[in-house]
Amino acid sequence: MTDTKIAVIGGSGIYDIDGLKDADWVTVETPWGAPSDQVLTGTLDGVAMVFLPRHGRGHVHTPTSVPYRANIDALKRLGCTDVISVSACGSFREEMAPGDFVIVDQFIDRTMAREKSFFGPGCVAHVSVAHPTCPRLSDACETAARDAGINVHRGGTYLAMEGPQFSTLAESKMYRESWSADVIGMTNMPEAKLAREAELCYASVAMITDYDSWHPDHGEVDVTQIIATLMGNADKGRAMVSRLPALLGAERAPCPHGCDRALEFAILTQPD
Ligand code: ADE
Repeated sequence: MTDTKIAVIGGSGIYDIDGLKDADWVTVETPWGAPSDQVLTGTLDGVAMVFLPRHGRGHVHTPTSVPYRANIDALKRLGCTDVISVSACGSFREEMAPGDFVIVDQFIDRTMAREKSFFGPGCVAHVSVAHPTCPRLSDACETAARDAGINVHRGGTYLAMEGPQFSTLAESKMYRESWSADVIGMTNMPEAKLAREAELCYASVAMITDYDSWHPDHGEVDVTQIIATLMGNADKGRAMVSRLPALLGAERAPCPHGCDRALEFAILTQPD
């Protein structure tokens, strides 16, 4: 058994965790540079928790400039066992409405201007991300969200775009109709891939703020509407997070899905 340490990476609108005991903002240095911000550490219901604001307090990082490798490395160095991403997304499905949460289980990575691996050159690793999220951690997120009274959808494909602009109508229709994506955001990749390389269990909770630009009744992304929904979602997101420690417990067995042993199953070259 290992001590559980839950990391929450908070996206737009989420900048801390409610009710954290012994809360302390700490600076973490990594070989990949500085993370997005200091990291908030503490305990909740007797379980160690770590919070990292993905865009930094004051929202200083664009989706492209977020230091994804430093962020995941910092969480690994702090001894985190589980990483939960909570982020704002657009929806491609009528039934996945603004205010709803989606427990994402697949990704289409369309980002193109980000460092995506801890490996190479010198030591190359090919890690499987066929199933990029941890079902055990996703179960806990689903239960926590339902217990908090949130309308939650289990399973969905997240299209990760580079941004920072939103999608054109043609892109939005293509992602929805041809690619069968369910939600769209700008930040879960390469984060999910890096978490797998770091052998961390990763779950992603998409908090829907809008219908992107495909929906005939909603027109293009309306920023005022997004901000209003985002604030409501942030309160719900914090309510979900506060239920996670009790569900996950202070100790944990090895991940039944092998997320914490991903490199054992990877193709790895010898370092020079
Ligand atoms: N984040 C919130 N809404 C989004 C959208 N429609 N596209 C990309 N990222 C988003």
